[in-house]
Amino acid sequence: MEFLEIVQQRRSVKSYDPEKAISDAELKELFDEVVLSPSSFNLQHWTFIAVKDSEQKKLLKEAAWGQPQVEDCSVAIVVCGKLDAYKDAPKIYKDAPKEVQEGLLPMINNFYEGKEQLQRDEAIRSASLAAMTLMYAAKNRGWATGPMIGFDPEAASKLLKLTRAYIPVMLLVLGYQKKAPRPRDYRRPVEEIVRLNTLDGPGLNGA
Ligand SMILES: Cc1cc2nc3c(=O)[nH]c(=O)nc-3n(C[C@H](O)[C@H](O)[C@H](O)COP(=O)(O)O)c2cc1C
Repeated sequence: MEFLEIVQQRRSVKSYDPEKAISDAELKELFDEVVLSPSSFNLQHWTFIAVKDSEQKKLLKEAAWGQPQVEDCSVAIVVCGKLDAYKDAPKIYKDAPKEVQEGLLPMINNFYEGKEQLQRDEAIRSASLAAMTLMYAAKNRGWATGPMIGFDPEAASKLLKLTRAYIPVMLLVLGYQKKAPRPRDYRRPVEEIVRLNTLDGPGLNGA
């Protein structure tokens, strides 16, 4: 698909065909694209829990206020953020030149250590960017997705056995669309959302 088509046709889909599956091999190909998403210092603060098991999907649905798409989709993916991703820097930069390692590794550590809010912000930012890649890559394969925040993070964390270093950032349902979503809702116009130079600056083309 052309990129413009992907962007224009991606929708948040709630109705899925429960009979259709997505194989591990197909998921692998999808995630091979997702890992190319950007992240600060390339720390890749994301981890995905792909829930395919029908019993586990049912339990996840319960943690998601009973929203049926969590059970009907082929794979319910919990996009998790890794709070202590900065500790992975030595592994990530292990093949970098020595002088890069010597400059970067202490810098990354100082930047994040002891800064819980920043660790959380980064985990959410990076995981969210990866989630967007996933939605577009899935659309390109003819699959539908739906991002969801309607779930109890504590119940989901317990169910998925997340340790303290991980937060569930977003739930993404993935599968084959059954019913088309309703027409797109209102989008704020570009004239309103883009301001030049400062918040009180003009819009594009003087708008
Ligand atoms: C972070 C986030 C959380 C969302 N949570 C839910 C949700 O829990 N349930 C749901 O049905 N839709 C959810 N949505 C989907 C939005 O309602 C949808 O993206 C928005 O209405 C725009 O529609 P579109 O994605 O089809 O263009 C969520 C979207 C985002 C980005």
